[in-house]
Amino acid sequence: VAGPSILVNGEPGETVSVLDRGFQYGDGIFETIRVADGRPDFWERHMARLASGCERLRLPAPDGDLLRCEAGQLCEASRAGVLKIVVTRGIGGRGYRLPEKADPTRVVALFAAPGYPESFVREGVRARFCRARLSDQPMLAGLKHLNRLDQVMARGEWSDETIQEGLMCDAANNMIEGTMTNVFIVRGGALHTPDLSRCGVLGIMRGIVLDLAQQLGIETEIRAIPRDEMKSAAEIFLTNSVIGIWPVRELEGRDYRLGDVTRKLIEVLARLATD
Ligand SMILES: Cc1ncc(COP(=O)(O)O)c(C=O)c1O
Repeated sequence: VAGPSILVNGEPGETVSVLDRGFQYGDGIFETIRVADGRPDFWERHMARLASGCERLRLPAPDGDLLRCEAGQLCEASRAGVLKIVVTRGIGGRGYRLPEKADPTRVVALFAAPGYPESFVREGVRARFCRARLSDQPMLAGLKHLNRLDQVMARGEWSDETIQEGLMCDAANNMIEGTMTNVFIVRGGALHTPDLSRCGVLGIMRGIVLDLAQQLGIETEIRAIPRDEMKSAAEIFLTNSVIGIWPVRELEGRDYRLGDVTRKLIEVLARLATD
């Protein structure tokens, strides 16, 4: 099986310096994008999040046309894959101190599609809660930054291959997100998803689902969702850019229905022309 195709600062290769701040400190940001029929899905949304993330981290953003060109070069021949873009602050600065002028490292890589079974969308997945907590950090909340140890430790909590996702809470026991997904619940026909102003990743698919719900006239509410409230949810589903929407059919041994709201959103998402 061929490995990923990778461009490092525009050149084919797979190495960056050990002095790179991405390696030293996780000082950088990334995007993970679904590729279908040679095109990265929802490109503009991913570029907007990347640009706003760079701004928040005071990191010079890569040129949009350059990224589009490199992504196009890798994706052209791909029927299905996952494109990952990583931007780090590069080499420089003494210790944690920011370099006066950053020289970012830009990595664009195309990986094979993960090949999840169709049944995950059609029938749903099994999920659990993780013990690992997400810590409050409003300064980094929402960002898809490179510090992912919370998720690595959380994912290390289970090896049962029939469990597809682990949900994570904050210190106050509010459910925030999955290790690699955002979480929605349906109550009384309305869609609820956690507020991510203190921790969590502001997912692209989360944004798309919220927009679709609004277009469909489904009421939405973004708020704190206590972990215990998950028990009384009528429907639960997970989102990310690669999987789209996965209904949760079981959480901590409790069964959930694949209900009308989830079904409708899956249907509309499948028909959506990507921007
Ligand atoms: C921790 C975490 N939350 C949420 C998401 C969903 O984000 P997106 O919809 O942009 O893929 C991801 C994606 O990998 C993630 O790793």
